[in-house]
Amino acid sequence: MASFSAVAYYIPYSSSFFPNKPPKFNNRRRNPVVKFTCEAKNGEQSPGKLDRRDVLLGLGGLYSTTSLSANPMALADPALPDFKDCIDATQPNKTLINCCPPAVSGINDYVPSATTVNTRISAQSVEVGSDYYNKYTEAIQKMKNLSPSDPRNFRQQANVHCAYCDGGYTLKGSPKLLYEIHNSWLFFPWHRWYVYFFEKICQKLIDDDTFTLPFWNWDAPQGMQIPSIYNSNVISPLYDCFRNPDHLPPTVINLEWSYGDVQVDPKIQIEYNLAIMYTQMITQSKTPNDFFGKAYRAGDDITTLDGAGTIEQTPHNHVHTWTGTAVDQSNPIDMGALYSAARDPIFFAHHANVDRMWTIWLNNLGGSNFTDKDWLNAYFIFYNEEAKPVRVRVKDCLDITKLGYQYEDVPIPWLDGSVKPKPRAKAKTLPSAPDPAQVFPTTLDKPISVIVKRPKKSGTGSSEEILIIEGIEYDKRNYVKFNVFINEDNVNASRPDNTEFLGSFSNLPHGHRMTVKTNKKFRISQVLEELGARDYDKVLVTLIPKSSPVKINGIKIEFDS
Ligand code: C2O
Repeated sequence: MASFSAVAYYIPYSSSFFPNKPPKFNNRRRNPVVKFTCEAKNGEQSPGKLDRRDVLLGLGGLYSTTSLSANPMALADPALPDFKDCIDATQPNKTLINCCPPAVSGINDYVPSATTVNTRISAQSVEVGSDYYNKYTEAIQKMKNLSPSDPRNFRQQANVHCAYCDGGYTLKGSPKLLYEIHNSWLFFPWHRWYVYFFEKICQKLIDDDTFTLPFWNWDAPQGMQIPSIYNSNVISPLYDCFRNPDHLPPTVINLEWSYGDVQVDPKIQIEYNLAIMYTQMITQSKTPNDFFGKAYRAGDDITTLDGAGTIEQTPHNHVHTWTGTAVDQSNPIDMGALYSAARDPIFFAHHANVDRMWTIWLNNLGGSNFTDKDWLNAYFIFYNEEAKPVRVRVKDCLDITKLGYQYEDVPIPWLDGSVKPKPRAKAKTLPSAPDPAQVFPTTLDKPISVIVKRPKKSGTGSSEEILIIEGIEYDKRNYVKFNVFINEDNVNASRPDNTEFLGSFSNLPHGHRMTVKTNKKFRISQVLEELGARDYDKVLVTLIPKSSPVKINGIKIEFDS
């Protein structure tokens, strides 16, 4: 039985922490201290203490006897995890955690070739007590009941996510670099495979190969709250007590949520969310690099790459922090931090919807997958439904019908241009503000505005301008977020559905102690056009911190390369 100690926490509400004050303001300064225990919940089996030798013999020990590690040429170009040693991962509270998989035998390549296609349905359409609900809960309960030494055990499955993202593995060929499946082009394919095998295990445990996981349809109004199946009662295997009690249904999710944000009127929040979806999926997702994140190859140090794609940052990260609860920003649990996120069954519905965004970007928005062989050939190891380790490649997950699933055809209201952000105040005279060189490098511990010069067009290259927030430095274990505005002279009056709100930069707490130095880019040509500022030779950029401070080294504008 899992046993967690009592947790006490409060979530501070401060209007000054949320300068773009929403139209309706909930007046309490903070919610009361809430106490609850998470003891012995729904029969979940904790992996407990596995024999350390078994752990070290896990995937890695066996893996090292396979041809791949015997063949140095296998260290070619894709970024690959090295399974020789699975090491302790790090929790945001800085203690180490062993997420390593239990010992297993044999690794085979796996290429899916489904002959039937099942439909993943929206979680909000599932009724508590329905046949589907019963199957789903039965599958998750059985997973929780499996022996801790079984890699299909629910907690072991959550540990797979932890090991892959919190520093459990090093980068093959570069033992000093920790491998990572977030903040790069590996994000979408890795999570697709992860959810796929989780679904396969569910099918196996209930002996129904037509079973699918639901998706949390947070991009459409009907799905913009925790689906009721995850909150029906505390003994349900779909329930997780480590969720923010202020965000239980019918609270509408905030897809740009930052700690401390106040609740706005649900109707208005829905408008904000649709505008945010439009911005992230359409305005800011023009290329595979925008959408999937940047290339991550053999020898690359993930802590210095440009990083995550549009959707991974927003809404993916914020759905995590909004759902998970926290003692404070520095010690988030379950959905709020990557090491523990998959301990909440809602994780898999969240990621099914993230995965659905990939299909929508390709099918409805003219997006395309990378053709780069280092992306296509990158591989991961997962446990399949038989508890056997399998090696799968990115190129083999691109056609989801071969994986045997598709998504229910539900309305996608943000595809409609009517939800697109609108300018708050067109073509204003920009206030004076310093030049970036006078301000940076600096610590973002208060709002900062700078006037940034636009580059002059010469030659025939792209004329799309990219705003680059350069050299954002932080410790990966920290929750990080700041919001970015353009040509906004009154941030307090600005709303998330105003064109002036460009978006945010964020980091979900994870990983070994590592300082990251990365960049955040926004496409601004279309935005400036809509703001009536096409001919301005400068822009006003404002950064609003929403977390503990990060260091920022500069801001500039360049043409897309
Ligand atoms: Cu691997 Cu939503 O995170």
